[in-house]
Amino acid sequence: MGSNVAQEIEKLRDLIRYHDYKYYVEANPEISDLEYDRLMQRLRELEAAHPELITPDSPTQRIGDRPVEGLEQVRHRIPMLSIDNTYSPQEVRSFAQRVQKLLKGETVEWVVEPKIDGVAVSITYEAGQLVRGVTRGDGFVGDDVTHNIRTVRGVPLRLLTEAPPAVLEVRGEVFMTNSDLVRVNEEQKARGEAPFANPRNATAGSIRLLDPRLCAQRRLRFLCHGLGYSEGFEVDTHMEFLHTVEKWGIPIPPWVTCFADIEKVLAYCEEQIERLHELDFEIDGLVIKVNRFDQRERLGTTAKSPRWVMAYKFEKYEAKTRLLDIRVQVGKTGVVTPVADLEPVTLAGTVVSRASLHNADEIERKDIRIGDVVVVEKAGKIIPHVVRVEKHERTRPLPKFHFPTTCPECHSTLVRDEGGVYIRCPNHECPAQIKERLRYYASRDAMDIEGLGEKLIDQLVDRGLVRTYADLYRLKKDQLLGLERMGEKSASKLLANIEASKNRGLARLLAGLAIRHVGTKVAALLAKHFPTIEKLSAATVEELAEINEIGPIIAQSVYDFLHSERGRRIIAELKECGVKMEEEIAVSRQSQPLAGKTIVVTGTLKRYSRHEIEELIERLGGHAASSVSRKTDFVLAGENPGSKLDKARSLGIPVLSEEEFEKLIAG
Ligand code: IVH
Repeated sequence: MGSNVAQEIEKLRDLIRYHDYKYYVEANPEISDLEYDRLMQRLRELEAAHPELITPDSPTQRIGDRPVEGLEQVRHRIPMLSIDNTYSPQEVRSFAQRVQKLLKGETVEWVVEPKIDGVAVSITYEAGQLVRGVTRGDGFVGDDVTHNIRTVRGVPLRLLTEAPPAVLEVRGEVFMTNSDLVRVNEEQKARGEAPFANPRNATAGSIRLLDPRLCAQRRLRFLCHGLGYSEGFEVDTHMEFLHTVEKWGIPIPPWVTCFADIEKVLAYCEEQIERLHELDFEIDGLVIKVNRFDQRERLGTTAKSPRWVMAYKFEKYEAKTRLLDIRVQVGKTGVVTPVADLEPVTLAGTVVSRASLHNADEIERKDIRIGDVVVVEKAGKIIPHVVRVEKHERTRPLPKFHFPTTCPECHSTLVRDEGGVYIRCPNHECPAQIKERLRYYASRDAMDIEGLGEKLIDQLVDRGLVRTYADLYRLKKDQLLGLERMGEKSASKLLANIEASKNRGLARLLAGLAIRHVGTKVAALLAKHFPTIEKLSAATVEELAEINEIGPIIAQSVYDFLHSERGRRIIAELKECGVKMEEEIAVSRQSQPLAGKTIVVTGTLKRYSRHEIEELIERLGGHAASSVSRKTDFVLAGENPGSKLDKARSLGIPVLSEEEFEKLIAG
């Protein structure tokens, strides 16, 4: 009988550990909270009846039953250094160059991870058992917070391996999710205690509490991002390290990716900024690290920080304001996105009165209601988004927000993408969609029709002058002259610009057609592999998917568009209007001196007019852009340069004089 109980206890513990793994490591729970609680309850009962069977690594033993008397100081066996950081892509490039120079002739791989805005800790396992948790402190000596680290549910008390190393110290961040902060602050308020201003403060205040029972209520989390001291543990790379500890039950950050090329790293970083809202926790940048440990060792450290790692931070600003309304907007592919109307608030020096709410699920998950006080955040160039609700400031009951079921513009019944998060207006003729598509078609990344902006498109569509892309090419001057603020000169100019767009080539055309999943990058890839519309249309889904970086979903979407009645009609009409549907430059461009470079010109040049220089840049394979961004490769500055030069300097983008530019294109 005794051994039966012992067996059941062990089975329950393993089961609970398995479900912890599913929940915290894989973020893919198999059972409900209620079922989980039942397992814990059963285990507690059995252990209460057989206290001699309790072990310190039992899931019931996470939370100690009394406070510690004080926090003891512990010296780190290996110091926890800080890392160098930058906001400029140019400095990331210099960092990579420095590393490459020190590792002459070797291939370097870069791992990119989110930089979690939490509290750094070190957690030590001996023979697989969690024995110690210590804060970073001053990097040399930290506080022993083992009693609280044990309460962090994602942290295994015992490594899930039969053969654990003698000693394994992992390092990472303890943090609180945004949704847990909402709950914790409600609880603070109920107890008459002050709410925390942000998840980081809440974490810092929790991890050093003396009473683990209090800390446990704060629902802290942990993500591992580094290796400390170890014995009997051999791994060659950071990726291998992460995968190993993850298998053993230690949660690692999402989005971790390895690249061989620093430009790919930078591109990836830009993409990730736009996905910040998908995370339920705060990150303040990305960390770029050398993957191989032997290379790290040879690179060593400076007085302040290791040479093998750099934090690429993004400017991030937060503010609190009231949500006045939730509106929905119809996009070019019919996706209906909710937008928050805010009481105007200053964020990073600009007044913000709108923020993105992304999708219906996000509103539901964050329980955002009209009238709430919300925290909005702005990172990079991305429009601000709502991070969380300050629920404890909800002074009166507010009705839940119900996402509309019909299109606000054409009243069609909205449909949800199969298995997806997007809700769409299925009517291609919806005026809102038509306008969005035309805007996109005319935009700089697509057909680049200067002068065809939002207001003008609204007028053209509202007056029934334009409905399809081809209609643009059929516009007559006298039709334009009837529009607001449209004189003889601007009408001619607009018609000339529309005419010029016929020769942008296949890639830009494809980018402009609002094909689902096809942006500028995919469009360029498609045009490179199938340089005429005939070849592209003749390709099978499989052939399309063979292109590197194009998966089956994108391939299917392209195929479906080209073979749909609507897609065929669009192509046929545009062809009739004389729009060029081939890409001849794809091959030769590579060898051109400015291939793929985005260049901004500012000030007056000695030898070229603005128009001439822009033409020259385009002819040499580059792209002449009108404003400086992180995507700019360099700025060409003449006499009396404007604010673009300051912007370039602040972003660390190289600035060339006219002479330097000429040297570049000559050599
Ligand atoms: S790597 C030698 N990776 O940021 C130190 N740090 O500002 C290597 N942090 O103290 C640290 N997320 O606590 C690394 N994915 C990540 C991180 C990360 C957050 C913290 C870390 C460090 C601080 C530096």
